[in-house]
Amino acid sequence: MDTTSTGADLLRELPDLLPAEHIVSINTPKEDIRSTRAYEWNGWRFRVPPGVFTPGATSRMVHERLLDNRIAVRGLTYAAMGVGLGAEVVAAGVAGAARIYALDVHEPSVRAARQHFEEFVGTDGVLVPVVGDLFDGLPDDTRVDVVTFNPPAVSQRVSDDPDVVRNICEGAGIVTRFFDQIVDRDLLSPGGRVYVALSNTADLRGIVAHAIDRGLLPAVEHRHDWHDGVVTHVFRFTGGNPA
Ligand SMILES: C[S@@+](CC[C@H](N)C(=O)[O-])C[C@H]1O[C@@H](n2cnc3c(N)ncnc32)[C@H](O)[C@@H]1O
Repeated sequence: MDTTSTGADLLRELPDLLPAEHIVSINTPKEDIRSTRAYEWNGWRFRVPPGVFTPGATSRMVHERLLDNRIAVRGLTYAAMGVGLGAEVVAAGVAGAARIYALDVHEPSVRAARQHFEEFVGTDGVLVPVVGDLFDGLPDDTRVDVVTFNPPAVSQRVSDDPDVVRNICEGAGIVTRFFDQIVDRDLLSPGGRVYVALSNTADLRGIVAHAIDRGLLPAVEHRHDWHDGVVTHVFRFTGGNPA
């Protein structure tokens, strides 16, 4: 594996993957994914249609940073990968993003994100809703300044329900494919940044090593220890040397 010394240091510091039974006990769904739910954040009341992910504490690590400018999007082009019900596009819209791609493989999620953006932000011509696998629905020449992804990277199948798998436990492969597309499509503008939220319920080292191998430079933007064995990171990847 060809890594920079910074990347190699970062890899060494990452926590080990948790034991399978621990991952299953933590990630077994506590809500009925087939029901219609509600979610409230920052004074906004979101509808959560069947099959759509209800944001949790990890989601909010990204949403709050978009809203308060720690993940800066003002005047920039932003892609919300796996947008779910759309809290991040609402936050980025309020924070002044110039163009926002709301991307998800699940059509009801993209529809909910569009509806919430229209209701809580309302700016015309900013939001571009796209249904598709990762970046497949975007034209080839698309360039973005900022990407966020809270991926369903949990390494154990915690349910046989395809909606739960899509939302929580696709495994590391969805993130490595995400990095491959970013690099192969030359998706990042100069200075572009990719933020990915991941815990040690996923193969952190394998995922970050893959990004490094593809020429992306990792940094830890935020790290939170939940004191139950789980440690969550918000990584920031920037374009480095082509692989
Ligand atoms: C953990 S949820 C995150 C939702 C929201 N961004 C949040 O943080 O609350 C993962 C999201 O990724 C989406 N997803 C799963 N596989 C995908 C794929 N191949 N392409 C695009 N989105 C995908 C799911 O539909 C789901 O909305």
